[in-house]
Amino acid sequence: MSNYQPTTVPDGPTDGSVTPATVESVTQSLADAQISESSASAIKPADPSQAYEQLVTPWDVQGSISADGKQLAIDYDKLVDQFGTRRVDTTLLERLIPRCFLREFDKILDRYEQGKPFFLYTGRGPSSDSMHIGHMIPFLFTKWLQDVFDVPLVVQLTDDEKFLFKHELKAEQTQQFSRSNAKDIIAMGFDVNKTFIFSDFEYVGGPFYRNVVKISRQISYNQSKATFGFNDSDNIGKIHFCAVQAAPSFSNSFPHIFGEVSNIPCLIPCAIDQDPYFRLTRDVAQKLKYPKPSLIHSRFFPALQGPQTKMSASDANSSIFMTDTPNQIKNKINKHGFSGGRETEEEHRKYGGDTEVDVAYQYLSFFLDDDEELAKIGEDYRAGHLLTGQLKARCIQMLQEFVRVFQERRAKVTDEDVNMFMDASRKIDPNFGKRSQTS
Ligand code: TYM
Repeated sequence: MSNYQPTTVPDGPTDGSVTPATVESVTQSLADAQISESSASAIKPADPSQAYEQLVTPWDVQGSISADGKQLAIDYDKLVDQFGTRRVDTTLLERLIPRCFLREFDKILDRYEQGKPFFLYTGRGPSSDSMHIGHMIPFLFTKWLQDVFDVPLVVQLTDDEKFLFKHELKAEQTQQFSRSNAKDIIAMGFDVNKTFIFSDFEYVGGPFYRNVVKISRQISYNQSKATFGFNDSDNIGKIHFCAVQAAPSFSNSFPHIFGEVSNIPCLIPCAIDQDPYFRLTRDVAQKLKYPKPSLIHSRFFPALQGPQTKMSASDANSSIFMTDTPNQIKNKINKHGFSGGRETEEEHRKYGGDTEVDVAYQYLSFFLDDDEELAKIGEDYRAGHLLTGQLKARCIQMLQEFVRVFQERRAKVTDEDVNMFMDASRKIDPNFGKRSQTS
């Protein structure tokens, strides 16, 4: 093991709490987060006769197009209805601030207070060597939850999924990406004693696989097709894969943490594109008499091209990667960053800019820790006092700093660290809350 120490990103305090920059901004983004509690209707695949409707699946996120041909931002109200989730209201948001958070997180918090264990589950589909900045959001939030609750965390790296869904990738490649993505995840500062990161290609077998098969027997071909929009020429691996992503929701998939115990529930932080998997999982859980997973969804970090879609690794120009240099970040924001500013400086000064669609402003709203500064930037931009170039410059500076700190920490993560986090033979203590209860 190297001298790697679990820490926080970026430049976090050493007392186990997350740095204000991370906590506050991620907590802030929860204003638009949803908690998924009920199973709802399936996502409809794109239908040419409804070409104006927004589409959100694990592979494709597109805002709708208005009657006058304008590309619109993602309508989260509509998603809340469609997916049957509910918004985190302001009161709940206030409660999400650490201490109150412990009281109010519905079933999970009730359990926590009763001293009953739960665990966190999240994941990553290793489609490339590097994660982009949008992927950081659910992981930063997961890190915060682990710090607050001191619970075990399992992180699934779905190298099998990426092989099945991306025909240009070889199985050996996606497995290799799992290891490099694991380094990205480790660099975020998860507690090695409480965290198990696994690649499906390496880990699936034994009790985990038994759950996969139990789950798959509960999901019909029609259900999988309707939920994900598959057609008859899709490979059978895709149809079945949902059982693999569902399995980590159940505690007995991890004997080295929970033994044979199957009644410990999990909380899954992710963005809402993963919801179709977990709507199915919640249905299946009931049938298998396992606890249903709870979910907390973060808002999408928008693509450089605008808030009508999410940042996606498959489009390099839509994304800021965690491997980007300061210059690349600067050029991407300046060249591709969708602006809510006006055509000319004169018009901008007269009518002001639109922060709702301005990507630089949206990025600042995720990561800027200083609420007052963000409010002032917003006011000045909308009033036309702050110009697009100035707003972009502030955004560039913030992103460069965030990525720089991350890269420094990533460089310190060694192969031995990865082996340690991915070691399925070590025992992980399923208990929790020692740190919070003694403080
Ligand atoms: P993947 O690799 O597409 O994404 C990893 C995590 O990042 C979230 N995400 C985003 N969040 C905010 N803004 C964005 N632009 C953005 N793009 C992606 C995803 O919702 C996800 O939480 N099938 C999964 C891997 C997986 C998983 C899980 C994810 C397996 N088990 C459990 C979450 C929870 C995938 O390909 O994720």
